Amino acid sequence: MNRNISSPILKARKKKGQVRLAKRRFFVFLVISPCLLLLAIFRFLTGYGQSVQPLVVVQVATYPGDEPFELPFGPSNLPHAGTIYTHSPHSPIVHSPEPLDLLHLQMAEPIQPRSLTALLPVTSRSISNLELIISSLIRTSGQLHEVILSCPDNVLSDVRRIVRNVIMAEGTEDHLEFSLRPWDYGMDSNMAIMRAASEVTTDWVLFLDDNGLSNMDVDTRDILINPMSIPLPTGPRGVASLLNISCLAPSDDPQPASFVIPPFVIPYSLVIDGLPPSTDLGIWADFGERISRDRLDGIGGIVIGADTTSNWCHVVQSDATWWNHTTPVLNLRTEPDVPKVQNGTLSDHQNVLAENERIGTFALLFPSLRDMQIFSPVACRLQANGYLVNVLLYGTARYAEDEPMDRTVVSRGCRLNYDTLSLDDVLPAVQSVSGMSFVLDWLDTLDEWPEVIVALKDQDALSGLVTVLEQSQSTRPSLIFIPYTDLAYCEWMGSLSVQEWKNWNVPRIDISVITKDRPHSLARLLSSLSNAKFFGDPLTFRINLEQTSDTETMRLVHKFQWDHGITVVHHRVIHGGLLPAVVESWYPHSNDSYGLLLEDDVELSPMFYAWVKMTILRYRYGDAINMSPQLFGISLYQQKNIELKLQGRRPFDARALFYNHSLPHPNTPYLSQIPCSWGAVYFPEHWREFHEYLAVRFSEYAFSIDEDIVPDVRSNRWTRSWKKYFIELVYLRGYAMLYPNYADFVSFSTNHLEVGSHVKDRPNDVYLQRKELFLLPLMSLFDNVSLSMSSSGILDLPSETLPPWHSLPVLNLTGSLTSFQALIDQGQTRRTQLRRCPGPPSLAYNVRDLMCINDSPSPS
Ligand SMILES: *[C@@H]1O[C@H](CO)[C@@H](O)[C@H](O)[C@H]1NC(C)=O
Ligand SMILES: *[C@@H]1O[C@H](CO)[C@@H](O)[C@H](O)[C@H]1NC(C)=O
Ligand SMILES: *[C@@H]1O[C@H](CO)[C@@H](O)[C@H](O)[C@H]1NC(C)=O
Ligand SMILES: *[C@@H]1O[C@H](CO)[C@@H](O)[C@H](O)[C@H]1NC(C)=O
Ligand SMILES: *[C@@H]1O[C@H](CO)[C@@H](O)[C@H](O)[C@H]1NC(C)=O
Ligand SMILES: *[C@@H]1O[C@H](CO)[C@@H](O)[C@H](O)[C@H]1NC(C)=O
Ligand SMILES: *[C@@H]1O[C@H](CO)[C@@H](O)[C@H](O)[C@H]1NC(C)=O
Repeated sequence: MNRNISSPILKARKKKGQVRLAKRRFFVFLVISPCLLLLAIFRFLTGYGQSVQPLVVVQVATYPGDEPFELPFGPSNLPHAGTIYTHSPHSPIVHSPEPLDLLHLQMAEPIQPRSLTALLPVTSRSISNLELIISSLIRTSGQLHEVILSCPDNVLSDVRRIVRNVIMAEGTEDHLEFSLRPWDYGMDSNMAIMRAASEVTTDWVLFLDDNGLSNMDVDTRDILINPMSIPLPTGPRGVASLLNISCLAPSDDPQPASFVIPPFVIPYSLVIDGLPPSTDLGIWADFGERISRDRLDGIGGIVIGADTTSNWCHVVQSDATWWNHTTPVLNLRTEPDVPKVQNGTLSDHQNVLAENERIGTFALLFPSLRDMQIFSPVACRLQANGYLVNVLLYGTARYAEDEPMDRTVVSRGCRLNYDTLSLDDVLPAVQSVSGMSFVLDWLDTLDEWPEVIVALKDQDALSGLVTVLEQSQSTRPSLIFIPYTDLAYCEWMGSLSVQEWKNWNVPRIDISVITKDRPHSLARLLSSLSNAKFFGDPLTFRINLEQTSDTETMRLVHKFQWDHGITVVHHRVIHGGLLPAVVESWYPHSNDSYGLLLEDDVELSPMFYAWVKMTILRYRYGDAINMSPQLFGISLYQQKNIELKLQGRRPFDARALFYNHSLPHPNTPYLSQIPCSWGAVYFPEHWREFHEYLAVRFSEYAFSIDEDIVPDVRSNRWTRSWKKYFIELVYLRGYAMLYPNYADFVSFSTNHLEVGSHVKDRPNDVYLQRKELFLLPLMSLFDNVSLSMSSSGILDLPSETLPPWHSLPVLNLTGSLTSFQALIDQGQTRRTQLRRCPGPPSLAYNVRDLMCINDSPSPS
């Protein structure tokens, strides 16, 4: 037996002739002291700068089988340098098995297949090579189960796009999963991957640097992706001593280190949640120090493998701050840098959400595990948001036989518990309402009665659920039935708060189509409506035919089959023109009734309804802080031009504008005063008020018809336009509409600018040029190659959720950034000029009050 106390107590044995290191087994064993006495050597390492806390490295040797022990002092009770401490029966010893277990002789085996998750930071250095880095990960995936990319949230969408493209090009036969974790601006990339590590669900974690597995020799790469189960950070780059930053020379023999820096592999059990650096040495040194603190051998990591292809050590030595650097803020575009410090940060939002949404219980009912897996991105996010998620799989016999009731599935990013139930036992009774008691019985077993139940639509087994729940004594949960075909596109629902879920069934959206004689356009619109996902919601479909509608248009209307609710057809007998055609096409029947107005040359994205539902729930039915009477609607169309400037049309790019103004999240949706007519939802109060406004306006009771209400906007020259008048109302009130703001102008509706009331017949090239100005790409149902990357296009939002109301940027009619207070003040000033009203308006949505008609019985 070797006796060796002060030198590193770790050796490895390797068989000659094996080419691939990963195939070897490492024998990690200890050097044993000869007697019962423990020998401990302590060294104070005080040489690293003046302000550095002294670090203690303890090296201990013992026999296997010795009594477990812990050293009888802690951080507050430090030993003296150079003293040898011995263990005697008289000294106070606390028994604790952990430290010794790690020290016991052990044999390292290869880790289980697919039990490794790689964490890859994306930095400004690496983004240009990201495709290469990701394809090399896919090609040499080893035991990898998942790759988590960690990147600043301003480039989230670009990174997602790159990853999606690579996955599509490369394919992932072994179902390597990819997911993204955004981090706050200015956050250290090391800190960010450390944080992401706490969400890993596999037993092993591979911390990569921003180069991933590229620039690495084959053997080292093999060690990292087919690692041995060594209970310590293991990688090619390590520092022997904290005293003098001396890098360990790469070698085939494992060497003990004070700490290692990425890339390295560690067991999940060693991951520390968001460890903040506690010393100047930086996060990896601190990490190694933490690990070694729990070990009697003082080892913080193991160095193995050749790392000849990079000059990391040189960098480390020449720049002590290297491993502590803050990643420069990424900027893929040419715009100036976005500042690192910001107002209303990501964590601010999260705190607001966390406070308001602690409580919430969900019940998910699915027939099979597979259905639940498809829905798991939603379930996982709800769970991560602190909600209680209960799952019942009520499939048939196959669940009953050998599987226990209470089970767990590890799905992308989370562990979900589920209960199973065989319907065989209850099937005979299921036809009757009382048969539904199996759901009630299960609900009764839950710790909390759920506020929200989500289930698959059209399931015979659940047919009586609504009735049963209505009759039950407890508070009635909100019931949501989602069709199987829409299940894969639900990821956005994970961003909703419980309050929003509870109101799921409250808002009703009416679709109102205005058409005349463009059957080709109409057919395209109807087909895009048919392909859209409605997530089980009922919607009234209304089509308004002008008096001059042609027979082909009529035929299309008769043929059209609307599967999501009732269909209403209007036909005018007196030609009205576009203004009444639009304005009278829809009227709210309650305060929960919303009108989606669509002219026939519009085409919709299949995801448009998700956007509508998500935004309406957030800003109309969510938490009080997110609601405002100033919001009059939701646009599906993304602005690409500003029409209202007196100088004429100007191109517009919200993202570029927000970059220019150093807004923290250039990808945020925003508020604009401009009413959109190319696919937008109008809110009931505001639409009613608009009707009243038009009546007063056309009566010329308050001002003459050719009065310019809004100063200096081009719409004053428009004739017969409903938007002109809506703009007036918006201006006087300081209202605004919510607009999407996705990369590359990806939109939920587009306009094909076809010859019609607005668009006059023009020479073809001029026409095509104009058309190009307005045609936008539609958000698609993403390919489902890798589900975690799919259907999240709509979640390309700050923190992957709709921002709080107060942090939405506000734009005026000519596209300049402003604030609501400025807009409201400006409207009131104008109102006073026009009407000499004594005070500000006092009644919401009341046009007589707005025009102070009661106050001035004799119109001016
Ligand atoms: C640092 O450590 C290396 C190797 O352990 C040694 O060769 C070198 O002399 C040390 N430098 C100082 C300044 O102690
Ligand atoms: C390392 O980071 C910590 C926290 O971010 C900071 O306080 C410390 O000054 C940094 N050390 C160096 C050497 O840059
Ligand atoms: C941050 O926002 C608050 C209110 O939204 C404001 O009062 C404060 O001045 C802002 N701070 C900075 C630094 O802009
Ligand atoms: C609908 O909203 C208007 C305006 O806020 C309000 O006056 C009216 O009472 C509401 N109607 C119902 C049924 O709540
Ligand atoms: C951004 O700022 C630059 C320089 O100030 C300006 O030329 C450019 O037009 C701005 N872009 C937008 C979209 O505002
Ligand atoms: C992906 O979509 C195709 C049809 O587009 C479907 O057949 C397949 O089952 C889907 N795969 C997953 C994993 O959802
Ligand atoms: C919008 O704001 C800009 C800058 O403050 C201003 O010049 C412009 O007149 C405003 N537009 C309207 C319609 O008020």
